[in-house]
Amino acid sequence: MNVRTAVFVSGGGTNLQALINARAVGQLPCAELSLVLSSRADAYALTRAEKSGIPTCVVTKARDMTADAYGEALLEKLRENRIELVVLAGFLTILPENVIKAYERRILNIHPSLIPSFCGKGYYGLRVHEEALKRGVKLTGATVHFVNEIPDGGEIIAQKAVAVEEGDTPETLQRRVMEQAEWLLLPKAVEHVAEELIHSRR
Ligand code: GRF
Repeated sequence: MNVRTAVFVSGGGTNLQALINARAVGQLPCAELSLVLSSRADAYALTRAEKSGIPTCVVTKARDMTADAYGEALLEKLRENRIELVVLAGFLTILPENVIKAYERRILNIHPSLIPSFCGKGYYGLRVHEEALKRGVKLTGATVHFVNEIPDGGEIIAQKAVAVEEGDTPETLQRRVMEQAEWLLLPKAVEHVAEELIHSRR
C-alpha cells in the first residue's frame, strides 16, 4: 500500500504542484497525496489541491491557542486521515513539539538554501535569497531534510546546488532555485522516504 502523505502549506504551493505533477506522471509511485493541510484559508495551494481532487483542510493557530493545543488539532487531522508521512512545503507556522515527536523521521521540509548556510530562525521566503546575495555566494540551492526540534536542523536527505548569476535579485534567484532545485528535489526525496517506509513495514 502507498504511503498516505499530507502536504502542509501556507502559500502559493508551487512545491505542492511539483508533487502533484510528479505523481501524475508516475514519478511518485510510493506516496499517495492524501491530504493538503493549510495554516491559512486563503492559500492558493488549497485551490491547486482542489483542482487535483486532493482532500483539504485549514487548521489555523488562534492567538490564544497554546502550541500543544495547536499540535493536537494538527494531530487530529493526521489521525483522521491515517497519515503516515508529512511534507512541509512552505508551511509558515512553527510545528509544535507534540507533532514532531509523534512523526519522528516522518516529517520532511524543503528549504531554499544549502543548509547549513542561510537557515534557521527567521530565514524564510525572500530573506534567504537576500542574505545569500549580500554574502556574495556563487552557489546556493535547496535542501530537503527531516524535521526535528531545531529549526532547519534535522538530518539532511537531499541537496541540489544552483549558480548565482550576475545581476541576480532576490526574486530572480528565488525563481531559479525553485525551477532548478526545489521542484525536482522535493518529489525525489519524498519518493525515497516513502519507499523506505514501505520497506520498513515488512
Ligand atoms: C519554497 O521556497 C520552499 O523552499 C520554502 O517555502 C517556499 C514555498 O513556496 N520552504 P511554494 O508555496 O511551494 O510555492
